[in-house]
Formats: sequence, C-alpha cells, structure tokens
Amino acid sequence: MNIPTPERQTILTGDRPTGALHLGHYVGSLRQRVTLQEQHRQFILVADLQGLTDNGSNPQKVADNILEVLADYLSVGIDPFKTTICLQSSLPALAELTMLYMNIVTVSRVQRNPTVKNEIAQKGFASSIPAGFLVYPISQAADITAFKAGLVPVGDDQLPMIEQTNEIVHKMNGLLPAPTLVPCKALLSEVSRLPGVDGNAKMSKSLGNAVALSASPDAIAQAVSAMYTDPSHLRVSDPGKVEGNMVFIYLDAFHDDAEYVAELKTRYRQGGLGDRQCKNVLNDRLQTLLAPIRERRAELMQDKGYLMSVLRAGTEKAREQTQQTLVEVKRGLGLPVFY
Ligand code: TRP
Repeated sequence: MNIPTPERQTILTGDRPTGALHLGHYVGSLRQRVTLQEQHRQFILVADLQGLTDNGSNPQKVADNILEVLADYLSVGIDPFKTTICLQSSLPALAELTMLYMNIVTVSRVQRNPTVKNEIAQKGFASSIPAGFLVYPISQAADITAFKAGLVPVGDDQLPMIEQTNEIVHKMNGLLPAPTLVPCKALLSEVSRLPGVDGNAKMSKSLGNAVALSASPDAIAQAVSAMYTDPSHLRVSDPGKVEGNMVFIYLDAFHDDAEYVAELKTRYRQGGLGDRQCKNVLNDRLQTLLAPIRERRAELMQDKGYLMSVLRAGTEKAREQTQQTLVEVKRGLGLPVFY
C-alpha cells in the first residue's frame, strides 16, 4: 500500500449502492480501508445520489442496496467507531456545493473526462445522457472537498475524478478570499483492479463475473472451478503459463503467503503441477476468507434497526463537517448565509 505520509490525514471513499459488494471491492478498497481507519480520520460515503445518476428510473434498486453495502462494510471489519459511514442524500451541503461548482466547470470539460466517456459508451446512453449523470464528477468533487479530504483511496478508473476535483479546488480557491478547499491525492491499492472470474478485465456484478462477499461455499467453489487457466497446459506434466492465468492472479491478490505462491508458480512453470491442485489452494483460501464475513453479514442483515442507527449517527457527524465547508465557501463568495 502506498501511503504517502505517516501523519494523520482526512480520507474519503465511497461506493454507489447499486449491488452487494464483491471480491473486486475487497482487494481494491475494502481491506485497505480496514487498515487506514487505524491511523486516519476516515469517512465512507454511501453514494446513493451518485447511484441514482444512472438508475433514475429504478430508485428502488439504489434504496434497497444501502443497507446491503453497509452490512458489507461492517462484515469485513470497518468499525463505525473508527470510520464515519454516512449517506450522501442526507447531506444537503453536498448537493449545494455541486450547484456552486457546476458554474465553474464547462460541459465540454465533463464530456472529456475519460471515465465519464467510457461509462457513456458502456451504458449505451448515446444522446440520451441523464443531466445528473453528466455532472456526477462535479458532485464527486463536492463530496471530496466538503470533507476536506486530502487522500482518496480509489481504483485507477477514478483518477480522472481526482484530477477534475483538483481543477475545481484551484478554480474555487481563486474566487475565495483565502484558500478554503483542500487539494486531494489518489491512494491506489496494490491490486487496483481484480479481473472477473471469466477473465474479463474487471469484476463487476453487472457483467455477471463477480463473487459477492456473501457468496455461498458452493458458489465460491463453482467460480474457482470455472476459472480460466492456461489453455495450452493440457497435461499435468506440461509446463504451464502463470501470466494471464486467472488462478495465479487471484492467488497473488488473496493469498497471504507470497513465498508459497512463488513456489507454486515455479512448479507450475516447470510442469508437474495440475490446475486442479492450484484451484484447490485458491478455493481453500477464499473459503477461509469469506466464511466469517458471510456469517457476520447474515447476522447484521437480521438487525436492520442497528444498521440504520449506525448510518444515522455517521451521517449526523458528517453533516457538521460538510455544512461547515459549505458555509465557508458561500461566505467566501460573498453570499449571505441565513442558516
Ligand atoms: N465514484 C465512486 C464509485 O463509483 C463512488 C464515489 C462517490 C466516491 N463519491 C465519492 C469515491 C467520493 C470516492 C470519493 O465507486
């Protein structure tokens, strides 16, 4: 993990609640958050408003997944006493800052954002892009700056968001009598993108190649057994290729004994180590990792009242911070503030 400075920083991360989280989220961000909460002031935003930007006609999907995502957080070890978990739609300062920032960002600048461009193509929006979707990078800049986050742990697909946020920070600070907004840095995890179990470059629920944190033992075993290995490794005695071999990509991401994995790789390359054996090692590792998460998650989902109380308390705490930034910005712009 490339933590640039040891001193305590304010961190913001977030997820759109559009489905339960999966192994890709786990290696890309969740396990990093569990570590970061020990040294830093960490906020996690359940980004339901952002979830609605491409689910405008399906609000139920977003609403239903808020507690699912929260249960995922708590079950992997994110501790609500150490990390403030909050709900975007109950933080009105975020929407207000978005309105203010929209005036200093051009439409063409947003359209040039590579992440937005990709998503527009992927989702087949063509010329019917929801206005809210087009401005979501601006809303994300509002999220990051409202918390005055200096560090934003994200996947590499989110780097253009950080760049755009910093442009807004500099532009807005230039309009204010004193710099108020804080520039941010991305914090990339070691494994920033886990391929799907089908070998597709990205694990994603919508691509149907994800293993959910709540996956049953059978579902895990099935995913591992269907994994793409080296197609020319026909007999156990044949030398095998490790590069691009899904089983080894996953072993690198999940196995905690790097030496052991290195040894497996050597034996696989030499010939004499079968796919089945490697898959057994991976399956054991994933079963051990996910069993306690699945159990805790199931318990948490039995107590929605508790989950709601965690989210409410975190949101109230976050409201103070975000409201304060909004008032500073408004005052700096010379606007009277009547609250
Ligand atoms: N864009 C992020 C995602 O799709 C979610 C998100 C919303 C976020 N606001 C954020 C991430 C602020 C980091 C910081 O997963």
